[in-house]
Amino acid sequence: MRQAIVWDNGAVKLIDQTQLPERCVKIRCTSVDEMWEAIRSLRVRGAPALGIAAAYGTCLGAQSIQATSPDEFCHAVERVTAKLATARPTARNLFWGLERMKRVLEAREDRDVAMMKGALLEEAHRIRDEDEALCRAIAEAGEPLVEQQDQILTHCNAGWLATARYGTALGVIYRAHERGKDVHVYIGETRPLLQGARLTTWELRDHGIPVTLICDNMVGAVMKSGKVSKVIVGADRIAANGDTANKIGTYAIAVLAKHHGIPFYVAAPSSTCDFSLPSGERIPIEERDPKEVTEGLGVRIAPRGVQVYNPAFDVTPHELITAFVTEHGVLYPPFDRSLKRCQA
Ligand code: MRU
Repeated sequence: MRQAIVWDNGAVKLIDQTQLPERCVKIRCTSVDEMWEAIRSLRVRGAPALGIAAAYGTCLGAQSIQATSPDEFCHAVERVTAKLATARPTARNLFWGLERMKRVLEAREDRDVAMMKGALLEEAHRIRDEDEALCRAIAEAGEPLVEQQDQILTHCNAGWLATARYGTALGVIYRAHERGKDVHVYIGETRPLLQGARLTTWELRDHGIPVTLICDNMVGAVMKSGKVSKVIVGADRIAANGDTANKIGTYAIAVLAKHHGIPFYVAAPSSTCDFSLPSGERIPIEERDPKEVTEGLGVRIAPRGVQVYNPAFDVTPHELITAFVTEHGVLYPPFDRSLKRCQA
């Protein structure tokens, strides 16, 4: 399985996800500004991958800082992390990654700039390696939930493109497939930026997993016709009570799953949990450029000047979630208690 983001000789090498599926192009980010732009424009995307991008982005900034005084260096790194924190607001992992990087500097006693730079890079590599291990553990924990001949609906892209490797929701599906289970995946296009149509279909086909693409507004009809036996999605931020922000459209899928008696699972690592928020009410929801709605792949599809609302995420209330699949196992309600296993 491939990697969407790697450190490469002082640069961050990414698969530019805006060009998929037509072209699988790798780009190199060599500055904080380039990394910020790559995050903002979704060249790199998906909550766990954003944690890694934030960590490596901090290293890009750190390596270009000229300061020789440790205090000056630490202040300059603070400006780098503050800048990266403005790239996208919703995914908890981005802030979690930045906090880990800041803690490295707080913990160092030697206060030697060259050593601090080295320690930051080591921490970023650790974050990447840990994410891969978390995805493996999530896949292992979730695999028993998948039954032979399951028809699984997922949303957006929570595969290897969105993580260090393997994926969360798709990781569970990959593991079931590796264990010889015949599964079929339904994926909605995921308007407006089409992560489902462009990325998840591409990933799954590459792994020989049968996938059927539907428009987002077909989910109800497809569930009603008995074609979906379970839903597995990823997450961008999980509040202490289990309310979960994920790609816009997830909430509607959860409501429909409840109506049709279909189990609804959220697969995510503990780095996506935000225990500072008691519920999903205060999860910051990113609003993006209206152009993403008025234009489909660069072609205008709505009258110029039309009013647009374009939230990138919605919050699924915990009551609609059957269970969380985490590196600590499958966690069932009451989530305010079971999710505590994810609290460090
Ligand atoms: O806007 P995106 O493409 O970054 O949104 C991604 C999602 O909503 C994913 O489902 C989530 O980040 C989990 S990725 C393992």
